[in-house]
Amino acid sequence: MVEVLDYDIVVIGSGLAGLRAAIEAAQESKGKLRIAIIAKNQLMRAHSISAEGGSAAVLYTDEGDSFDLHAYDTIKGSDYLADQDIVEFFVRQSPVDVIELEHWGIPWARRDDGRVAQRPFGGHSFPRATFAADRTGFYEVHTLYDTLLKFDNVDKYHEQFAYDFLISNNKFRGVLAIDMPTGQIRIFKAKAGIIATGGLGRLYGFTTYSHLVTGDGLAIAMRRGMALKDLEFVQFHPTGLVPSGILITEGVRGDGGILRNNKGERFMEKYAPTKKDLAPRDIVSRSMMTEILEGRGFKGPDGLDYVLLDFSPIGAEKIKEKLSQVREIGIHYVGLDPIESPLPVRPAAHYTMGGLWVTPVGFTGVEGLWAAGEASCLSVHGANRLGANSTSECIVFGKVTGGEAARWVLKNNGTVSLEEGDKKYAEDYISKLYREKGKNDPYEIKRKLWATMDRDAYVFRNEEGLRRGLGEIRNLIAMSKDVFIKEEGNVYNQNLIATLEMRNLVELAEVVVYGALERRESRGSHFRTDYPKRDDENFLKHTIARKYGDKVELTYEPVRITKWKPEPRVY
Ligand code: FUM
Repeated sequence: MVEVLDYDIVVIGSGLAGLRAAIEAAQESKGKLRIAIIAKNQLMRAHSISAEGGSAAVLYTDEGDSFDLHAYDTIKGSDYLADQDIVEFFVRQSPVDVIELEHWGIPWARRDDGRVAQRPFGGHSFPRATFAADRTGFYEVHTLYDTLLKFDNVDKYHEQFAYDFLISNNKFRGVLAIDMPTGQIRIFKAKAGIIATGGLGRLYGFTTYSHLVTGDGLAIAMRRGMALKDLEFVQFHPTGLVPSGILITEGVRGDGGILRNNKGERFMEKYAPTKKDLAPRDIVSRSMMTEILEGRGFKGPDGLDYVLLDFSPIGAEKIKEKLSQVREIGIHYVGLDPIESPLPVRPAAHYTMGGLWVTPVGFTGVEGLWAAGEASCLSVHGANRLGANSTSECIVFGKVTGGEAARWVLKNNGTVSLEEGDKKYAEDYISKLYREKGKNDPYEIKRKLWATMDRDAYVFRNEEGLRRGLGEIRNLIAMSKDVFIKEEGNVYNQNLIATLEMRNLVELAEVVVYGALERRESRGSHFRTDYPKRDDENFLKHTIARKYGDKVELTYEPVRITKWKPEPRVY
């Protein structure tokens, strides 16, 4: 039997954007609206808790920072693909929302003078990453969750796997989900929804993303006719710990850490003479891979060759105070204490610059449906995000979309009803899966996908690799339709969930690689060795992908430029 739950607003995802959206919707509705927030994991274990280094905000105009400087850094960092009007809004709003977190109890680090501390981060020309040691995301999630507890009109649902949306006549009506502990099928009927399901990083094998991040919201939205924007731009964070890929925060370099090759050289001096180790991530990642490919790296397991991250300039006391988590990670995962020894690192898939194509207030184009955070592409980050800008983006635009959705529901005061066939559709979708006894192992398909993406759509790309990758992904899509789901039970049927996730991933991989193949230039995180220059004449534009039946089609949209004309990116 399908269980139907009735809400005004459903927030899908409980990371920073989802939590912030739920709080805003609750606040704006003054107790009048019933809101559900549904999480794929435990509500407080969304991938946002892995954010380490900080949230960017202009706090010290009296010390030389400014909105224009933050905007310029972000736009230059984006390789001029950011939409500049949205960046201008973002940089003005982030200090307000970062300080709001302070009022809600977050333990921001402090300077000796008692003011909130900020650390330097890559590509920022002022130290503006507001932080809580190296567990910023963890504290942010907890602060938002604690704040959400104040509202008794918000129901929280843990371990719900969303697998489809109900949309008719371009109007959102709800979310279909499995309650993972029981296998119960649920329809979260709602007048409005906010997609806050995060990025798509588990397309890659070597990644800082948790296994949770499988692009579920993006894949559902694409199947439901919504457009994805700029998906070929995937950020590779320079310092993924080898061999696990666990994030070693850029805060290490912000606090003085240095990358070194096998000759002990500080090689970033050569590639970015001014910013050095704190150049934007796309540049640092390419420099590291150049060192490795030219033989100045170290041999790692399974081809994961690496360079070293040297913590020694930071000093033991500061490491203990500001970087205690990454120290623990070094000790536990590779048996190295960074106080005594450098850590092995290489670029790891870390962030999805693209996402759902939305308006500047996160509206998806489907009546009653918004998107926020990494799932959305507002184009704050363009072709390369600056570190510390994403947690701020989640907070700023979680708030915007939560407010928009609540005001819209209050104003329209409409009703949503189930249509004949909704329950049957919800049930059949899943019961069919239990009967799938086809040829292919879903886990094997996922492993093949990782190998393909790590090889063909990594830091350096080219026509040959992308064509080969696209062919393999299309093959995997075909294989994904004929899988064997071994587990039969309802309780935490991991095979079933893994199959749904894998299908989401392979479909999104096609969009990433197809977009990358068609973008015959190099911009930000997307570097083509066969087209090594940025080509503003032909490619100063956003890629828009839509799925028609089984086919992905690409179109392009102009970049919105206010006052910063594209110029060479020199650091
Ligand atoms: O390096 C880091 O701490 C990551 C931060 C970010 O992606 O913004």
